[in-house]
Amino acid sequence: MSVADGFATSPYLVIHRKDNAWILSDPMTREHVEVGADALAVIGALGSGAEASRWEAALANSAGWLRTVFNPGQGLWSDPTGLGERQGDDVRGADLFRLLCARRLLEPRDGRAYADYLQPLASVLDPAHLGSFNDRVGRYLIRDLRLKQSWRWWHDQKFTPDGLSIRPGPYKFVHEYFFDQYFGAKSLSGVRVLDFACGNGHFAARFARLGAKVVGLDTAPELIDLANQNHGSIASFEGVDKPENVTSALAAHAPGSFDIIYMGDVFLILAMLPDADAVVSDLLAQFTRLLAPGGRIYMLEPSGIFWLASRLGPEEAPVVVLTEYRKMLYNVAPTFDRVCRLMAQGGLALVEYVHPQASPAADPSTKAFADRFPMWDFSAWMVRGAND
Ligand SMILES: C[S@@+](CC[C@H](N)C(=O)[O-])C[C@H]1O[C@@H](n2cnc3c(N)ncnc32)[C@H](O)[C@@H]1O
Repeated sequence: MSVADGFATSPYLVIHRKDNAWILSDPMTREHVEVGADALAVIGALGSGAEASRWEAALANSAGWLRTVFNPGQGLWSDPTGLGERQGDDVRGADLFRLLCARRLLEPRDGRAYADYLQPLASVLDPAHLGSFNDRVGRYLIRDLRLKQSWRWWHDQKFTPDGLSIRPGPYKFVHEYFFDQYFGAKSLSGVRVLDFACGNGHFAARFARLGAKVVGLDTAPELIDLANQNHGSIASFEGVDKPENVTSALAAHAPGSFDIIYMGDVFLILAMLPDADAVVSDLLAQFTRLLAPGGRIYMLEPSGIFWLASRLGPEEAPVVVLTEYRKMLYNVAPTFDRVCRLMAQGGLALVEYVHPQASPAADPSTKAFADRFPMWDFSAWMVRGAND
């Protein structure tokens, strides 16, 4: 057997036990196949490399089940690890070998095909590469939702379809809980708030109920409609027809118009744009103009390191398999050092930084994860050199 001809396990293979089943997982590709004890023994014997015919013969009496799911329609948090229930009947022998190869848990041993698979996509529908998480969501939106209502994807995985409440899970028990604790403790009566990229106005309305005078701005017309419908009586909402026109929409407000500018789950989008430096710089120039003396920018944004990190272990004590920091593969949100660089370039200084904890009412999975790892970064910023 030449080394290049043989098939070996993925270089990142993790074998773990979940609910008394053995799972082969690759945290890089987020592929998972459950196998019986026989197959596990074969993996141990041949995993460093063997020809296809040896694998097929050795697996003849072994069973396996595909456990990979990618269904962001169920919510980012349904299982960020991508490990689901068994799919279909058991797969045996040569078919199990082919399943393990198709899911890249077994790979040509020289590793070249695997390394190539992790390269960026050539186009949105490129089937030959894994792509970032956002690429995969893009493919899902095009193929399964046909982009009819692309805003619906992120909206409905966070909110009930009517936009009136947040679905149970980390958005409710970490993001919203922290928001309510933090801003509920402040005196906001008459404070002027700009909720930048307000979405359906849920958080703009929470500011308004605390007594603030709120303007929400967003580029999604459907979400602005929903915001007006649900909360138009307590806050005002401004739709901007496209992202390129956001700067001029902000420029229409007088200098010093706001005491607080709030961003929730939006800076990640801007910071990941190819021209992020220019976009953020234009935006922050407007923000510094719009902030009244002593004003603050608050950001409640997904933690670039841990937000959708792949989890293993028991639900009540998960461990994280951290596949990336600066060199991003899953590539969902910026690291906080990148956020700091973009904000500093825009003339802002960090005045507060908190890792939000989960509500005591959180489900065990959310609570256990948020107790151990940052899910969101909360930060407060002031204009550098401004008087407090
Ligand atoms: C993930 S949602 C978050 C919405 C809301 N802040 C919340 O916490 O529910 C991101 C929002 O950013 C808006 N958005 C994206 N790019 C934008 C831009 N350049 N300017 C203003 N809004 C933008 C989207 O329409 C969407 O409503």
